[in-house]
Amino acid sequence: MIRSTVCGVGSALPRRVVTNKDLEQRLETSDEWIVQRTGIRQRYIAAEDETTASLGEAAARRALESAGMTPADVDLIVLGTSTPNNTFPATAVEIQERLGMRHGFAYDMQAVCSGFVYAVTAADLHLRGGTAKRALVIGAETFSRILDWNDRTTCVLFGDGAGAVVLEARDGEGTIADRGILASALRSDGSHKDKLFVDGGPSTTQTVGHLRMQGREVFKHAVGMITDVVEDVFRKADVSAEDISWFVPHQANKRIIDASARKLGIAEEKVVVTVDLHGNTSAASVPLALAHAVAQGRIKRGDLVLLEAMGGGFTWGAVLLRW
Ligand code: UT7
Repeated sequence: MIRSTVCGVGSALPRRVVTNKDLEQRLETSDEWIVQRTGIRQRYIAAEDETTASLGEAAARRALESAGMTPADVDLIVLGTSTPNNTFPATAVEIQERLGMRHGFAYDMQAVCSGFVYAVTAADLHLRGGTAKRALVIGAETFSRILDWNDRTTCVLFGDGAGAVVLEARDGEGTIADRGILASALRSDGSHKDKLFVDGGPSTTQTVGHLRMQGREVFKHAVGMITDVVEDVFRKADVSAEDISWFVPHQANKRIIDASARKLGIAEEKVVVTVDLHGNTSAASVPLALAHAVAQGRIKRGDLVLLEAMGGGFTWGAVLLRW
């Protein structure tokens, strides 16, 4: 049985850090409110010359380097993003060009904060179906470009960045002892589309628009949706919370992360938290957290790793993999 196995991981952040204290200078907000309600202490904000494509390219290069590979070795790029460089072509194609790749194929995955979980699942299907052998799966965002910087209820929450993994089709035994992706589950429900959205687009306003969110409404649904889809993945792989080595959740809010882990019965010390450092980087948050935990020497080969995300749409999903 073919297993899509992670063989490299990398990340990239903009040069500029913006702390909660910095935001206090220009908004009616406080470090105390932001930390207490979200756990966020700082975020990285892209400069003009830093884009979703440039951050995605940097993360991809680091992931390839850690895999001991070059762009010639991969034949697929799937990029999770809601902040593409242009309406089209796909930013994945721009990253392909930046990497000097003239072979294979590349496309963007639009699932907002669930973009990386969706992209990993899509790449896994390509590898297992034989349409590709090695994939770069990237989550890259510049949400700072779509924030309303006068809306304190949203602009303090998000940040920019990128993370990437290299997946390779390898032979496995078909058991959960295999390395690679073991199970995944994806969900969406468009009846929630007005709770978290961008109020512009090519076919409606011909503008880019700004992010709008009913934060409390999103919060209300998040924990239930996350735990449902994780339990679905547990059932598919026949594992339980105690088997998990590392829980790498979408980094939107520390309170959502804590409540989800508690409800699932995952011990606190197994939860990777980077929301304090990066804020909510949408599709980049899970691969940024993965790269961070690997760099710290926490996630190691053979560990059972659980990823999840939930965001605009709503979309949500989970992936279980052995590192
Ligand atoms: O990644 C996709 C998913 N997105 C999320 O997961 C976000 C989910 N939602 C949340 O994380 C939380 O709902 C928020 C962090 C957005 C808000 O936290 P909350 O505990 O739900 O606060 P709230 O919206 O109920 O607001 C409480 C108060 C309000 O004042 P009043 O009406 O009670 O007087 C807000 O005006 O906090 C006020 N407030 C702020 N105060 C200082 C809202 N934003 C700020 C701010 N600084 N930045």
